[in-house]
Amino acid sequence: MPGLLYGGDYNPEQWPAGVQAEDAELMRRARVTTATVGVFAWSKLEPAPGRYDFGWLDEVLDRLAAHGVGVALATPTASPPPWFSLAHPEALPVNADAVRLSHSSRDTYCASAPAYRTAARRIAAALGEHYRGHPALAMWHVHNEYGTTCHCDLTAEAFRVWLRGRYEGLDQLNDAWTTAFWGQHYTDWAQIRPPRRTQYLPNPAQVLDFRRFTSDELLAAYTEQRDLLRAATPGVPVTTNFVLGGWVPVNHARWAREVDLVAIDHYPSEPGMAAEEQAAFAADLARGWARQSPGGPHWLLMETAPNLIYTADRMHTKEPGRMARQSLAAVARGSRGALFFQWRAPRGGAELFHSALVPHAGPDSRVYREAVALGEALDRIGETAEGTVEARVAIGYDEPSAWALQGAGLPSNRLDHAEEAQRAHRALWRRRIVCDVIGVWEGLSAYRMLVLPGHYLMTDGQAAELRAWVEAGGHLVVTYLTGIADEHARVRTGGYPGALRELLGVRVEEFHPLGPDDRVALTPATSGDLWPAATGDLWSETVHLAGAHALLRYAGGVLDGLPAVTRHAAGDGMAYYVSTRLDPEAYGHLLATVAASAGAGPEQSGLPSGVEAVRRQAGDRSWLFLLNHTGDEHEVPATGVDLLTGTAVTDAIRLPAGGAALIRQARPDVGPLPAG
Ligand code: GAL
Repeated sequence: MPGLLYGGDYNPEQWPAGVQAEDAELMRRARVTTATVGVFAWSKLEPAPGRYDFGWLDEVLDRLAAHGVGVALATPTASPPPWFSLAHPEALPVNADAVRLSHSSRDTYCASAPAYRTAARRIAAALGEHYRGHPALAMWHVHNEYGTTCHCDLTAEAFRVWLRGRYEGLDQLNDAWTTAFWGQHYTDWAQIRPPRRTQYLPNPAQVLDFRRFTSDELLAAYTEQRDLLRAATPGVPVTTNFVLGGWVPVNHARWAREVDLVAIDHYPSEPGMAAEEQAAFAADLARGWARQSPGGPHWLLMETAPNLIYTADRMHTKEPGRMARQSLAAVARGSRGALFFQWRAPRGGAELFHSALVPHAGPDSRVYREAVALGEALDRIGETAEGTVEARVAIGYDEPSAWALQGAGLPSNRLDHAEEAQRAHRALWRRRIVCDVIGVWEGLSAYRMLVLPGHYLMTDGQAAELRAWVEAGGHLVVTYLTGIADEHARVRTGGYPGALRELLGVRVEEFHPLGPDDRVALTPATSGDLWPAATGDLWSETVHLAGAHALLRYAGGVLDGLPAVTRHAAGDGMAYYVSTRLDPEAYGHLLATVAASAGAGPEQSGLPSGVEAVRRQAGDRSWLFLLNHTGDEHEVPATGVDLLTGTAVTDAIRLPAGGAALIRQARPDVGPLPAG
């Protein structure tokens, strides 16, 4: 797959032949390279059990191949046909209230139902067999956004099997789940159920293990399809599109090792600059996962909306040029291209007003014209595909910690690990310090600085790895609620944060969670220290120094004079502790200061707020992406060739409002490019 991929989800089964013919022409005109086909086409491909109708899809693939479009061919297993659900009602999902759902939407399957798994394997194998060697076949797209949870009896059975693999025996399970609390002690495996709706608060360790089980169960459903496809078409990459969100019961850091290319779907949920910040976070998270994947460190933006941003109350139309700039922003952060949901806007169905590269208005539209321009731009900058982003800073994001912090019975109901990770990311993004968001700790040595924001669960092994990394020279920033509990969500006693007390040189005696309108004032511990006026919210704590130095102290209130932010030298490295949610300015100041002392400064300093600078590099070349997300023109220092316009740039380039430039340069650490 040379160059950058461009295109998106294509549902020809929704359209008559004439429209499909026009689609192929319009794709060629827009230089589409990739169409994701067949995602929800199970009932068209297998209209009755074991009776396949591939004829219509053959025509689609043949036509796309003839127009130079490669296909990410989906297995359609996210949406079983009505005949299947009627024949196998036990394979419909059951929610936590023990209500069995019905078909006529999508994702109406239970991954633990043998009938579903058998039928899914059968259609995947049939597709693999049929499309082996087809010239359009570029990639397999297994299923769609794995994430369905089920609480049925078949799931209960599978959960028990999984638990037997995880725990030596019932004694270990009882201990891990602290079942002595509220008399939940199990005396037989058969007594264990998924965490269905119960009288009062559920057992947090049971809930956590159920999510882990669901992730592994879905992963097994994925890998069995993947293995069939690999066997049928060796060499064709196999992946699935990861969906992000607190509800998703998938540990993507583990999954990343099982896909040939990490692919994510990302839909910003806020219209303004926050959309760019969210997209950058998702990109850096995908790249962090991709570093653990055989296809890494490249990743792929598999779905995003071309022309709309969806917020809770309405759809916001993107400003002209924003679709292209956001696509370049994803490529800047290591995406193998820009794919969209979707190619053509449907006439009906549940998502009838979802945006598309070919909108309801048809090709005579701003959006399609921008799609053509984007195709040209991505074609022109194809050489950047080989470059990688080399971050020296990482943020730890741990999905099990996020799940654990969603539980009831915690000291505040406003704790959100994903939001904490995004806050840290936003602070770095605004200072143009590029970071990977990492989910597993392999490869820590690549980083000079690591931020752990609300990484609630921590194993002894992780704590030991962290210590070794800091002592070898790493700069660690840990925020409140990190390392509080072990992997079974049991609190580590003796003072918080149990796993990291010694490394941080602090002992936290008590939490003081804050209300939505509460603020705590903070003051520099040493007069003359240059800090912006700092405050904290959400959280505060009684921190005692046990070897660390205070950088900021609480000022006023019950914690008056006690340390709020601390620093502790350990070996050749430094460990910082942040006991409250710092306001964005103070947080940014702290992280930028630590990054500077870790030798991990910004890509470019002195840029106007809202202008991004990110570099991809390979061999002796590098590509500097400059993205102006503001409504004003800005001049930015740069020298090289702007690949978007083909013009030479000397010293500086003017970026129009909302515009972008992509400067080919020598690698900064390699020296000038050889002539020619
Ligand atoms: C994605 C999904 C697509 C479509 C899209 C709408 O999450 O994979 O099928 O539903 O959302 O935004």
